[in-house]
Amino acid sequence: MTDSTQFPPDFTWGVATSAFQIEGAADLDGKGPSIWDTFSRNPANIKDGSNGDVACDHYHRYREDVGLMAGLGVDAYRFSMAWARVQPAGKGAWNEKGFDFYARLLDALQEKGIAPHLTLYHWDLPQGLQDEGGWLARDTAYRFADYAEEVARRFGDRLASIATHNEPWCTANLGYGNSQFAPGVTDAKQAIQVSHHLLLSHGLAMRAMRSLSPRAALGIVLNQWTSDPATDSEADRALAELEWARSVQWFMDPILKGRYPELALRAHGPNAPQIAEGDLEIIQGPLDFLGVNYYFRHYASAETPPRTAPAVLGTTDMGWEIYPQGLTELLLKLKDEYTLPPIYITENGMASPDRVEAGQVNDTSRIRFVEQHLAALKKAMDAGVDVRGYFMWSLMDNFEWNSGYAKRFGIYHVDYATQQRTPKVSAHWYRDFVAAQRRQRHAA
Ligand code: FCB
Repeated sequence: MTDSTQFPPDFTWGVATSAFQIEGAADLDGKGPSIWDTFSRNPANIKDGSNGDVACDHYHRYREDVGLMAGLGVDAYRFSMAWARVQPAGKGAWNEKGFDFYARLLDALQEKGIAPHLTLYHWDLPQGLQDEGGWLARDTAYRFADYAEEVARRFGDRLASIATHNEPWCTANLGYGNSQFAPGVTDAKQAIQVSHHLLLSHGLAMRAMRSLSPRAALGIVLNQWTSDPATDSEADRALAELEWARSVQWFMDPILKGRYPELALRAHGPNAPQIAEGDLEIIQGPLDFLGVNYYFRHYASAETPPRTAPAVLGTTDMGWEIYPQGLTELLLKLKDEYTLPPIYITENGMASPDRVEAGQVNDTSRIRFVEQHLAALKKAMDAGVDVRGYFMWSLMDNFEWNSGYAKRFGIYHVDYATQQRTPKVSAHWYRDFVAAQRRQRHAA
């Protein structure tokens, strides 16, 4: 190991998943339908025609899966709760059997000494709430706060952290902007209004959870990227600046500064959101942590057709440019613009077309990807950014949203016909890496 990968002794090493992508058991034990159940059951919406009904069958195999984590020696596990499992209609009655599942999962993690980091909303809105307008309806923000409060009441002292949302940018822009994700709407104005309601729901949920003073740290997880102009032209530079405002500042500014970024507001014009009196006061508030998901940078080109990123280090199976230095640049830019809470990299990883051959999955490109990103992360930390942990996406191959099961992000391979999990060489690498960090931790 080189110096560039000597992390602080108390740094948290983890793996991440989300409920819809792994649990399956879509209709079991009183679970209500979610918008992703509905969306994915229309094969036209998913590239391989699959759905999330079974996924990794984690609902039944969670003990085995916690065993995999223990085998890796990780400190922490980031996962999400399926809202419709614990509150089938998204309002009203709680489903005890649903809460029991998460209680059993927490027991299993506790037994292995793995710290649980929960995300409340990783995209699977109860269908009942969608039928009443989904995130376009302001009322959904209040229903979300009720759900958050109940979860914090029951589990707040058992969880290391609770994030309100995962990547609200995606919920708004892919769910309502270009219909790639559930609920499958294409309407720019709606997408922007939805993003405001998501932020409002974050603020309301933070207040509701704070009133209970849970031991868990409270925060949010955002997908973020730097935005580089493709050329030095004025048009490209302006576009890059606008993209930063529309994606990163759009969520960061309301929470940390109590206002929307002027540049983006102006660009949205008549699509700018309706903001009720007092909303921004609700949204603004201290975070105990900020979760950053980093996969790629944005490459801003105003030309038609737009220039594409040079991808000097190649692209992943998703077609995403591999650009580790973007992580350093992103974190430094955030530090520049905001008074930041401690940061966790809550997702980072890559898809590759992995196959089991003679019992082995030789995903060396994933190892290189993670090494490069950890080096980039360390660089930002050495420059003063307070990062406390890193969660690899993902523990295992899973339902990759509108790509179905065709894209594999796991460090464990999943054979969906047998549900067999096979460690890829990246799993062995991560295990050895974490062990080496721990030896250093003990020596410290
Ligand atoms: C992120 C999502 C996560 C996974 C990765 C590849 O945007 O949060 O669920 O799909 O991308």
